[in-house]
Amino acid sequence: MDRHTRQHIANRYDGHLQRSYVRGKLATDPVYAASSSVLAGSTLPLLDIGCGIGLLGQYLHTQGHRAPYLGLDRDARKIAAGQRAARRAGLEVAVKLRCADAHDLPPTQGDVALLDVLHYLPAQAQLTLLQQATRHLAPNGRLVIRNVLREANWRFHATRVEEFFLQVSGWIPGGVQHYPDADEVRRPLEAAGLVVRIASLRGHTPFNSYLVVAQRTPEAAVPPDACRIAHGAAGSAILRSAVD
Ligand SMILES: C[S@@+](CC[C@H](N)C(=O)[O-])C[C@H]1O[C@@H](n2cnc3c(N)ncnc32)[C@H](O)[C@@H]1O
Repeated sequence: MDRHTRQHIANRYDGHLQRSYVRGKLATDPVYAASSSVLAGSTLPLLDIGCGIGLLGQYLHTQGHRAPYLGLDRDARKIAAGQRAARRAGLEVAVKLRCADAHDLPPTQGDVALLDVLHYLPAQAQLTLLQQATRHLAPNGRLVIRNVLREANWRFHATRVEEFFLQVSGWIPGGVQHYPDADEVRRPLEAAGLVVRIASLRGHTPFNSYLVVAQRTPEAAVPPDACRIAHGAAGSAILRSAVD
């Protein structure tokens, strides 16, 4: 996404701080481009759980994605900011945002996104949410997850430091509850019959972030620039980005 488009999206948000955040996030974090690539060509409704200020919906729309988007977040301030941004863009019909907890999902069937949300839930609630997410997938739906995974490396520790500051700043009230490892994410998805692919996805950040893509068919979309390093059970694969 070019600088002009990033600025265009940022201008829909309130105030200098939020606009700078949006510009910076779109410039440095590959998660929206990766999600857009996974969801490319889908006409299924997208349920974005823990959507924050609705950046994924805004991003996808600028990329020509026209399937209905519903973002849910438990933080009413973020939802209100995202709704104002959608209204300013004239997207209040295409990009819908609603204040709701991840435990209370609407009965949609389509694609599902869970971007940087899982670790804010306790371990058991993560398992329940992953199981719920698979039930919200249409037969050819795609589940796209981005999350930090628990690993013994300096990037994981850098992520913990960042999360500490996110919590004390009030951006994520409650903060981290549990960092899952790759198996904790993969197992419930495979148990639901999905093919799972996991790829490193951190872009220009120091954080230990991974993209997880799951769907029922073996053609599960893989992120660009990824190459396979190891197989898990049921034909799933762990992938590591060639751009790391
Ligand atoms: C790091 S932000 C990610 C926002 C968005 N997914 C993105 O990538 O642009 C994590 C979001 O998860 C939300 N969240 C955490 N726990 C949640 C829960 N139980 N139900 C709904 N939203 C939750 C937080 O309010 C926060 O907006």
